Amino acid sequence: MRVLVTGGAGYIGTHTVVELLGQGHEVAIIDNFDNGSPVALDRVRELTNGPMEVHEADVRDTGRITRIAQDFRPDAVIHFAGLKAVGESTQKPVEYYDVNVAGSLSLLRAMEASDCGRIIFSSTATVYGEPEYLPYDEAHPIRPISPYAHSKVMVEQVLNDWAAASDGRAALNLRYFNPVGAHPSGRIGEDPNGVPNNLMPFLAQVATGARDRLRVFGEDYDTRDGTGIRDYIHVVDLARAHVAALDRAAATSGAEVYNIGTGQGYSVREMHAAFSRVVGRDLPIEIVARRAGDVAEMSADCSLARERMGWQARLGLDDMVESVWNWQSANPHGYRGSDAE
Ligand code: UD1
Repeated sequence: MRVLVTGGAGYIGTHTVVELLGQGHEVAIIDNFDNGSPVALDRVRELTNGPMEVHEADVRDTGRITRIAQDFRPDAVIHFAGLKAVGESTQKPVEYYDVNVAGSLSLLRAMEASDCGRIIFSSTATVYGEPEYLPYDEAHPIRPISPYAHSKVMVEQVLNDWAAASDGRAALNLRYFNPVGAHPSGRIGEDPNGVPNNLMPFLAQVATGARDRLRVFGEDYDTRDGTGIRDYIHVVDLARAHVAALDRAAATSGAEVYNIGTGQGYSVREMHAAFSRVVGRDLPIEIVARRAGDVAEMSADCSLARERMGWQARLGLDDMVESVWNWQSANPHGYRGSDAE
């Protein structure tokens, strides 16, 4: 298939493009390089020989992305481009709604102008909010609490209406749990701007010595060891979920929603222990107060993705942690390292 990938230079985007090219798809990428790197795409080229074109463009630039879509004529779009820091979204709500919501509307206009009727959307498990029960299934009530989560809910709603408006359209909303890990080559991985917000990249920077210690946000949660539990999913498994979703979108119509996780939760202490084991020394930690907005536990019921898309996660905790360390130790400064200069 011909697949247009927005945000293809980012963390999940690059891993997905590698899987797409490996499966024989043709790819065109749109990225404004706000939180993605051209170096990452050079490395994607190194890993694969497939056909990939790259356009530096902002998804909100409807005229530009329409021309790109009309030239490329995609069979499907995978839409990653967006802002994703929950805390920042409360400081810059207009920016978040503009990029995430207006950007998605702009993309749908470009799709309509190029007769593309299939979209896979990068949504988040954060849309569920405080759990009423666990694991969350797709029927769990939606209670977004941040502008970021609201922006994702809004786009899901737009896609529901868009898919219903015309026969033959398909929109798959993939609600990601906690993506971690890196490509086994160690050539691509997560490279956050500034101080990492998320646990795994932070732990990785403690392991290289770039940060002095991990601050554990609370150990008084009602969980097995008092620290927060999350459903971490290897980014390569997540990338493969998008390849499966393309086939599903070609075989169905209307809007669908899928949880993408493993079903297995790990606590902060368990992640810290696993990372320390791989690095070979006990990484320093400090227990601090809870982070506002964090829930005690999240985990996914992923049976719908297995039943309807034939997809399930295959990689476990060791693969996640080892691949992060492999990437981080080879690229302590991410893509800003030696071969980027
Ligand atoms: C966060 C986002 C979520 C996003 C996801 C991407 C929030 C509230 N949610 O999820 O929308 O989809 O990242 O992966 O920000 N922790 C520490 N110390 C740290 C960092 C994290 O103890 O320095 C703990 C957290 O309290 C939590 C766990 O580690 O229990 C995971 O945190 P994180 O990686 O930030 O992911 P989420 O908060 O689950």
